[in-house]
Amino acid sequence: MTAPRADLPISLGQQGRLCPTHFRNCCQAGEGRQEAVRPHFHLIGFKILAVASRLRVRFSSMGKARAEEKGLTLLRGLVRHSPFVLKNFKHYFQNLYRREIRRTNVVAPYAAVLYVTHKCNLACSYCTQKEPDVFSQELPTAETIRLLRIIRKETDSILFTGGEPTLRNDIEALARAARHDLKFRSVLLITNGTLLHERQGLFDSLHSLIVSLDSLEADSTRPMSKPAVLSKVLENLQLAKSRFPRATDITISTVIEEWNIADVERIMDFCGEQGFVFATQTALNEKLPNLRLRQNPRYQALVEKIVQRRRERSQPINGTPKLIRTLLEFGDFQCFPTMFPRVYPNGDVFYPCEPLKKIGGNLLHEGSFNKVFARGRKLYGDIPDCHGICHLFGNVLSSYYAKDFWGLAGDTIR
Ligand SMILES: C[S@@+](CC[C@H](N)C(=O)[O-])C[C@H]1O[C@@H](n2cnc3c(N)ncnc32)[C@H](O)[C@@H]1O
Ligand code: SF4
Repeated sequence: MTAPRADLPISLGQQGRLCPTHFRNCCQAGEGRQEAVRPHFHLIGFKILAVASRLRVRFSSMGKARAEEKGLTLLRGLVRHSPFVLKNFKHYFQNLYRREIRRTNVVAPYAAVLYVTHKCNLACSYCTQKEPDVFSQELPTAETIRLLRIIRKETDSILFTGGEPTLRNDIEALARAARHDLKFRSVLLITNGTLLHERQGLFDSLHSLIVSLDSLEADSTRPMSKPAVLSKVLENLQLAKSRFPRATDITISTVIEEWNIADVERIMDFCGEQGFVFATQTALNEKLPNLRLRQNPRYQALVEKIVQRRRERSQPINGTPKLIRTLLEFGDFQCFPTMFPRVYPNGDVFYPCEPLKKIGGNLLHEGSFNKVFARGRKLYGDIPDCHGICHLFGNVLSSYYAKDFWGLAGDTIR
């Protein structure tokens, strides 16, 4: 077990929020409040009433014809995406029940993140995955599929990641099993894109592919970096584009650091031209964002441009304007890490989250996330109130899903 990270929450000026010894607010007055099981059924009722009245106000502030048109568009959107919409509603109310009635922030998984390997053919400067703090051995194919079967019992969405997932010889078999045998409704894979030409079976199994790209300028002076392999990645992107039904099935994910601010804007333009979805976050260093970026005028201008394009819907961009601002301006948010649980290659699941380096249990042994989280909670307590310091997309998204679901839904539909 690794030593407690005393620097983690306190270095962001959140002194007193989180006990550095126990990684939870156990030394705060809040503990009794968190542990007590007090039913708050009326809160759920209030939430539903509040949503209904917000919708009524929104529609009544428009003209009649416009309100009808908006209402119809909303209804059509809801019908077209009904499985997704139903899943989101179910998940939201399930978590509302957990939070308000059972008084716990250990929410149900929405999608699982499966690290299939720690190996990688690159060595990006910001990456911690090649040498993770808690190392785990890869399982053979059949055992990994057994792991996927267990995951499927609690969620229908899986994201394969690593290390570099395409380095695994059986990655096509794993994706095929996930989609066709286990019927995951969303099978995603995130890759550096260098080996896609050798894993073309993936195109028939994935619902969506995420390719990481940090620059559109090749740079052979930095071997093992993403810019060093740019031409192969661009070639493979075109291959992927020719194999997926829509260009929007491909997302380009870019990590912002001080050196590539201009490149990120170019990547966003490139996504617009190609029809790819643009996604971004900043590099975390020792799990903390580079707060200096906030003072950088070029960075500020970039954030404004991203938000503006998302607001105008001039091209597909991941996240809503509010979410993007929280993510890129390092705003405060409450993280619900069990919403996107991280599973290591041998089936170990982090609790409460990967940055705190604690394993709640092994999925193959415990048999469900629910049991792993219950074990983790017993060992390490409830989710700490660390006021969102790990500004990664999934973490910020978890906050909006749990706490501003209706705002998120409204911004997504609008
Ligand atoms: C760990 S990688 C694994 C998948 C694959 N090797 C790749 O690079 O896409 C998953 C994603 O996390 C991003 N990432 C890695 N280290 C990061 C960090 N310190 N801060 C923010 N993003 C990071 C990568 O750029 C990539 O988009
Ligand atoms: S390609 Fe992915 S896993 Fe490999 S070093 Fe870069 S970010 Fe890390």
